[in-house]
Amino acid sequence: AKFTWVEKDTCIACGACGATAPDIYDYDDEGLAEVIFDGDKNRGVTAIPDDMFDDMQDACDGCPTDSIKIADEPFNAEG
Ligand code: F3S
Repeated sequence: AKFTWVEKDTCIACGACGATAPDIYDYDDEGLAEVIFDGDKNRGVTAIPDDMFDDMQDACDGCPTDSIKIADEPFNAEG
């Protein structure tokens, strides 16, 4: 399984990730990205389905500040 999480401290609200993978990433009131897939609330604990891996990787590769994290284990991050 793969898990993803946005490091909001470094996100500059560029808006690329939500355009690339709108089923995984959306934005909070400040325009900072967060993982919204299946109610994850940017905790990074929701397994992303295989068929979404390409979009997830594209979003990760396209983030100008490397704020999108991907791992094989849950992040258990605080929003
Ligand atoms: Fe932020 Fe990177 Fe997305 S800067 S809006 S996490 S592409």
